[in-house]
Amino acid sequence: MREELINSAKKVLDNNFQEGGFTIPSKGLYPFQWKWDSGFIALGYAHYNVHRAKREIKTLLDAQWENGFIPHIIFHNDSDTYFPGPDFHKSHLHPKASKKFRSTGMTQPPVTGFVLQRLLEIIGDDFMPFIQSHIDQVYQNHVYFYENRDIKDEGLVYIYHNWESGTDNSPMWDDIWATMNSPEYEFERRDTTHVDPAQRPSKREYDHYLHIIEIAKKHNYDDTRISEHSPFLVLDPLFNAMLIKSNEALIHLYGLLGDNQDKIAYLQAKQKLGIQSFNRKLFNKKLGVYVHYDLKADEQIAYVSSSSFSPLFAGIPDSARAESMVQTMLEKFGGEGKYLCASFDPTHERFNPQKYWRGPIWINMNWMIHHGLKRYGYKELANRIKRDSLELIENNGFYEYFDARKSNAKAQKSGYGGNNFSWSAALLIDFLNDGD
Ligand code: GLC
Repeated sequence: MREELINSAKKVLDNNFQEGGFTIPSKGLYPFQWKWDSGFIALGYAHYNVHRAKREIKTLLDAQWENGFIPHIIFHNDSDTYFPGPDFHKSHLHPKASKKFRSTGMTQPPVTGFVLQRLLEIIGDDFMPFIQSHIDQVYQNHVYFYENRDIKDEGLVYIYHNWESGTDNSPMWDDIWATMNSPEYEFERRDTTHVDPAQRPSKREYDHYLHIIEIAKKHNYDDTRISEHSPFLVLDPLFNAMLIKSNEALIHLYGLLGDNQDKIAYLQAKQKLGIQSFNRKLFNKKLGVYVHYDLKADEQIAYVSSSSFSPLFAGIPDSARAESMVQTMLEKFGGEGKYLCASFDPTHERFNPQKYWRGPIWINMNWMIHHGLKRYGYKELANRIKRDSLELIENNGFYEYFDARKSNAKAQKSGYGGNNFSWSAALLIDFLNDGD
């Protein structure tokens, strides 16, 4: 069974691999290279095709801008199955954008640092030369964040678009949409030709998504001007936890390489400040978890989501806070008849078990939460999340997201969104090889 599953997962990755050396998340729906997807995808390849794992990271880093920025989508190739494409984003408006690759002008969670560390664990010392020749690019990406997106100098960086969060359509953003008066754009969506529209965002939500991009374009993707003019400016616990986890990895890897004391010191200083601010600003005592923070309104966005648990992965909470996070997870997300871990609070009225980031389970979030729980010694719960992830894939296939209700699993298919989805396949391979 295990071998069969791993073989099917490899097939998914191999079919999504492109001639240019990168891997698309899913045919039709996502036909380019995505930043955080490529990190998870590389982890899958590392177990059976090291050459491809390296190329996945290399093709991503090749598209880095002169200022250290790494875009969220890289349009290596042309495709007419996706909107909005390169002609809409116009990344060249930024003077330091890559001259070689067209891309978006926004980014995604910085996973590449901790991915390099995990790749070293999987591949072994043969991977060190790759780290040696690429680590500075990842470091430069972190410097970009701290120098351009930490407007309060507190070690936390903002996102200016919901697509930067990775959790694109979370109910979290609804309160921000309510403050916006976006134009009604005329455009032809492509996502709803691949997936049931009931599982995707609404037309009005797309208006807001496009409107923020129009504002960023008007300011030539200049970070300072975006921070002044974007109606969306958020400290995201997931995004910042990924940055802190990747800092930790870079400090460790630079330590192995030797020298580089200045870089280690820079990262350590940001790490200390960032963890302090994270605990001061993003923890919500009443909910017992970390939440988002709206920099425009200067207040927390007080909802529980799977992002609320990601700080465990980065070692951010103390043990008392970790315990309260686990209690919240068990009470709200983990009751009888539920798979872990829904992407949004299942007890909340905005929860929707079938709709894109408004409730379904995502395998990359489960993978991070699994490792976070293990880090804090919650072995049993960590194993439950892993088991749930494997069972969902085994029963439904390599879908993009899954229904958290076990009752639904008996009645019908519980896999939604894109099928043959790369990171679901890649992380299954890593789950089945992580030694537990
Ligand atoms: C969706 C997800 C995002 C992911 C992308 C490609 O937009 O919300 O997190 O990176 O698909 O898989």
